[in-house]
Amino acid sequence: MSDLFLQACRREPVERPPVWMMRQAGRYLPEYRAVRKRADFLTMVGTPELAVEVTLQPVDLIGVDAAIIFSDILVVPQAMGMTLSVEDGVGPRFHHPLRAAGDFERLRDVAPEDGLGYVLDALRLARRELAGRVPLIGFAGAPWTLMAYMIEGGGSKSFSLAKRLLVEDPPRAHGLLGRLADAVGSFLVAQVEAGAQAVQLFDSWSGAVGPQDFREFVLPYLGRAARLARTAGAPVIVFAPGSGWALEEIAAETEADVLGIDWQTDAGDARRRIPPTRVALQGNLDPCWLYAPPAVIRERTHRMLDDFGGRGHIANLGHGILPDVPVSHAQAFVDAVQQWRAR
Ligand code: CP3
Repeated sequence: MSDLFLQACRREPVERPPVWMMRQAGRYLPEYRAVRKRADFLTMVGTPELAVEVTLQPVDLIGVDAAIIFSDILVVPQAMGMTLSVEDGVGPRFHHPLRAAGDFERLRDVAPEDGLGYVLDALRLARRELAGRVPLIGFAGAPWTLMAYMIEGGGSKSFSLAKRLLVEDPPRAHGLLGRLADAVGSFLVAQVEAGAQAVQLFDSWSGAVGPQDFREFVLPYLGRAARLARTAGAPVIVFAPGSGWALEEIAAETEADVLGIDWQTDAGDARRRIPPTRVALQGNLDPCWLYAPPAVIRERTHRMLDDFGGRGHIANLGHGILPDVPVSHAQAFVDAVQQWRAR
C-alpha cells in the first residue's frame, strides 16, 4: 500500500512527492479508446464496471500514485434534471440551458444516494479492485463553474450569458449558487462515505470573472462546498485555475488541505506565499510540455519539483493531460517524479 499521496495531503514528510495527472483516465491511452469504442462517454460514466476499468488503467499502465474516479463534473446538474449529451468533437452540451425564471425553479435538489448512486457504486467497486494499491480520489465541480455551464449550455469564450446573470439578477445567481454548494458538498461527503480517500473540487471557470465578482459569487460558494466536504474527514483539494492571484484567500475561505496550482502560476512564488506546513500544493507542469522529448520533460519536471521544494507537494500537471500526448511522454513525467530526490 502506497500512502505517499495521503501523507503529502497531510503535509507529512515523504521520501518523494507523489504524482498523478488530471484527466489521467482519458483518450491519450489506447486502452481507454478501446473501451470508448464499445460505449459512449456517458454510458461509461453511468456504468460502474466500465468507469472502474478505466479508473484503474493509469494505475496499472503508468504507475501513478493515486487513482481518480472516472466521472464528470456535469453529473450534478444532470441529476438536478438537466439533459446532457457529450458528442465527439463538440464536448458536453445541455439541451435546455437555464434562461427563464421557470428553468431555475424546475431544478431538483439532489440527495446523492438517489440521483448519483451510480457514482457512489463506482467508488465502492474501485476501492475493492484497487485493494489498497493506491488511494482513490473523488471529485465534483464547484458551484460557479457548474452554474456557468448550466446557463451557457456548453463551453464558452466570454461566459457572457452566465456573467450577465450576475449583473442583471444577482439574487437569482446567489440562490442557485447556494443550492449548488449544498448539493456538491453533500455529494463529496457521500463520496468519502463510499470510499473516496480524498476529494477534489474543480472550479475550472473561476478565472472568467474579475476579483470583485470572484469574492462575491465564486469564493463564498467554493468555500461552503469545501467546508461541508471537510466534515467527512478526508483531505480536500481545491483547484481554481485562473485564480492564482487569490491563493491566500482561497486557502483561508475553503480551509482546504491542498491547493491545486495552475500552469500559469509560478511554483516557487506559490510556495513562498503558502507555507508547506499549512497547506499542500498540487501541480503544475504545463500539459503542453508533455509534447517535448522525454529528456526535456524530465528536466522541466525536476525544475518544477525543485521550485516546490518537496515537502507538502503533490506533483501533477497544471491542467488536464491533452488527448494527443504520447503515452511514453506521460510515462516520462511520472518516472521523473518517482526518480527525483529532494536536494
Ligand atoms: O481526471 C480524470 O481522469 C477523471 C475524470 C474526469 C473527466 N472530467 C473525464 C472526462 C474529470 C476529473 C473531469 C472533470 C471535468 N469535466 C472538468 C474539470 C476539469 C477541467 O478540465 O478543468 C470539466 C470542465 C469537465 C467538463 C467536460 N467533460 C469537458 C469540457 C469535456 C470535453 C473534454 C474534451 O476534451 O472533449 C468533458 C468530457 C470528458 N470528461 C472526457 C473525459 C475523459 C472526454 C470524453 C471522451 O470523449 O472520451
